[in-house]
Amino acid sequence: MLNVGKHTPVEILEKLPPISNQIQEKIDNFGDDEHPFSVGNLGDIITKHSNWQKCFPRVEPFYAVKCNDVDPVIRILADMGLSFDCASKIEIQKILELGVEPSRIIYANTNKQLSFIKYAADKGVSMMTFDCEDELIKIKKVYPDAKLVLRISPQSNYKVKLDLRKKFGYHPLKASELLEMAMKLKLNVIGVSFHVGHGCLETGAFVAAIEQSRKVFDIGATMGFDMHLLDIGGGFPGEQIQNVETNITFERIAEVANKSLDDLFPEKDVRIIAEPGQYYVSSAFTVAVNIITKKTFTDKYTLSPDGDFLDKPTVQNEPTRMYYVNDGIYGCFLSCLIDPGCFVPSHFKDSDEELHNSTIWGPTCDSLDLVIENVKLPELTTGDWIFFKDMGAYSFTTASSFNSMPKVKKYFICEKSLWEQVYQR
Ligand SMILES: Cc1ncc(COP(=O)(O)O)c(C=O)c1O
Repeated sequence: MLNVGKHTPVEILEKLPPISNQIQEKIDNFGDDEHPFSVGNLGDIITKHSNWQKCFPRVEPFYAVKCNDVDPVIRILADMGLSFDCASKIEIQKILELGVEPSRIIYANTNKQLSFIKYAADKGVSMMTFDCEDELIKIKKVYPDAKLVLRISPQSNYKVKLDLRKKFGYHPLKASELLEMAMKLKLNVIGVSFHVGHGCLETGAFVAAIEQSRKVFDIGATMGFDMHLLDIGGGFPGEQIQNVETNITFERIAEVANKSLDDLFPEKDVRIIAEPGQYYVSSAFTVAVNIITKKTFTDKYTLSPDGDFLDKPTVQNEPTRMYYVNDGIYGCFLSCLIDPGCFVPSHFKDSDEELHNSTIWGPTCDSLDLVIENVKLPELTTGDWIFFKDMGAYSFTTASSFNSMPKVKKYFICEKSLWEQVYQR
């Protein structure tokens, strides 16, 4: 065991066994403990970074801390030389405590409370995004020398899993109005940023956003700003289980975006950065949960038009198994609300066992707490374990203490040869 974070042991192995064996080994060591847990493979994050450098040689990644801020993850990213996108004072503090230079941080939240802007000023975290007049006024008050990046809301109809444009970004066609205000306030605008939306499903989203950024860039330059930074945001997929509907991959997005960047931003002195979150961490984490209750429903009864119970079941379907597990949307599974069916359960039963219609619920007293509905699983019983891959993004950082349910325990592993790429160069 080695320590990479403050107190977090990382198990370094010559060769990683399949994930199901890793999970089973932990369960075997637990005895009667049914606590939910995760296994985080830091080697996966190291491989992702090599792939980023290969696919996006011109684009510097500023990892979005909000996506997964556990100590060994941000530590290893810092040690690989990544920069960071922070959304708050505490996130900035966490990253500075790792010894990261303030110049390797962008404060990429367009709605910052005044005291947090002051904190960024005190620490010299000068790069920050804005998308409205109010933000400019606050920044002028406490950090007039900040390096400002105008976040636009790209106008296009390309599909994404979570559209961020309702809440964030200035309309690119009106950018000159906001830039004029920045000019009047004698502020220092250095570039443009966008976020195509969480979980980009069509490469065209990047093409459109880069085109619109170029126009805003030129407006800024014509007005006299020294425009030299383009921030292409996040939205890059990071799961190992590929989206079968769209077949979108990180590599395909990079290929298309690189072409747009080369065509529209050929200047070598324009710095291009991105704010990937899920790309780096989704596939690195697997979460295992324990079945705490099972219910089986055979028949469905409905009321007659007069409100009486019919004495015969109205529908006789194949029975549905309902499994209640000890983590749900108030824990690591919030993404199920936005993208139902996004996490696919795996089990330890033989692959030839008969499959049944099943639903998995979380443990809290809320019927919103649904992990997945109508999924085919073998017959499972209370006490059995199931596990979910691709759980590294927006899982630990979004978990709440609703119903005071146990929080997922975290274990970390890494293949030796990958670990040595970072720590014994
Ligand atoms: C400003 C900003 N940058 C980056 C990210 C990371 O996005 P993703 O995880 O989709 O790459 C987000 C996610 O919400 C964000 O709001």
